[in-house]
Amino acid sequence: MSKPLIKLENVSMVFEIHTMFGEKKKIKAVEDVSLEIKENDILALVGESGCGKSTLGRIMLGLLKPTSGKVLYYINGKYRDIWSLSKKEYKIFRRHAQLIPQNPYTTINPMRSVISALIPPFLHYKIARNKEEARKMVAEHLKMVGLVPPEDFFNRYSCRLSGGQLQRIAIARAISVKPKFIVADEAVSMLDASLRIEILDLLLRIREEYGLAVLFITHDLAIARYFARKNKIAIMYLGNIVEIGNTEDIIKNPLHPYTKALIMSVPIPDPDIARKRELPKLRSLEVPSLMNPPSGCKFHTRCSLATEICEKQAPILRNINGRLVACHKIGD
Ligand SMILES: Nc1ncnc2c1ncn2[C@@H]1O[C@H](COP(=O)(O)OP(=O)(O)O)[C@@H](O)[C@H]1O
Ligand SMILES: [Mg+2]
Repeated sequence: MSKPLIKLENVSMVFEIHTMFGEKKKIKAVEDVSLEIKENDILALVGESGCGKSTLGRIMLGLLKPTSGKVLYYINGKYRDIWSLSKKEYKIFRRHAQLIPQNPYTTINPMRSVISALIPPFLHYKIARNKEEARKMVAEHLKMVGLVPPEDFFNRYSCRLSGGQLQRIAIARAISVKPKFIVADEAVSMLDASLRIEILDLLLRIREEYGLAVLFITHDLAIARYFARKNKIAIMYLGNIVEIGNTEDIIKNPLHPYTKALIMSVPIPDPDIARKRELPKLRSLEVPSLMNPPSGCKFHTRCSLATEICEKQAPILRNINGRLVACHKIGD
């Protein structure tokens, strides 16, 4: 059994913003999140836009320091808080943890050719000894992501590459530094539907070959189900994780009312499963603001099961049938 590679312990992120009227407001983008990703494993993080997924991803990559809680990474034989690593260890962590961003057009600077964008990481991390060796490595990596013959791509600029090709280059760049952990943040959302499966399959194959741990962020439950079909899904709502479990268990038998509502929005081709699922009605379709979140369980304003306790007390994640669920109303 592999061990956790990266763990979050009670992580919260509060942003302070200035409103148009000169007021200071706090946004709790992530609240008290604890989770872990094992070596060579996938966790899909799913939730509506604005619920804090990218913030959580940036925290796991060490790009954003949480306002409280710990990010623990397994390095040199023990778990270390990434914000108290030595400079040398931090450099190792930065190499180990890579991002595949949503927008393929931000992957390479429009002023740089593919080769000039891909060579520097090989030299920076001394993976290649010189430019010539780095060029060969770039060629190998382009082949690995299906851009052949690689020399045809060396001198192209992003304006002459399609979204799918740029996303392949983003994958090549992420793996070029031999990472152990990847955050793929809505990595296929901006691509045409016909291309999505191709890129997801590429990412799955590369992940398998390199034995990478992946935090796979998406607002689309169907895509999460496809990508993490043998792994786990975490459902996020207004900064909290409300349910974590094995992907197929969650899809076939969602427990949290919010997970049920999300699943209701995804058509299921299997009529047997579709007939069996019990779907809750939502009291409200309005998503509350993170600036002014509801008291107690943040989902209570939309939840048809909510009672007094839900307004007063925030539920914590509890183990129900091998799954973690944060709801007062289930499992009793
Ligand atoms: N740097 C920032 N400063 C202020 N607010 C931010 C910042 N980054 C994100 N937010 C806010 O945090 C919330 C969660 O954002 P985000 O993590 O991007 O959500 P998601 O990726 O799920 O769409 C949003 O309300 C967003 O406006
Ligand atoms: Mg996002």
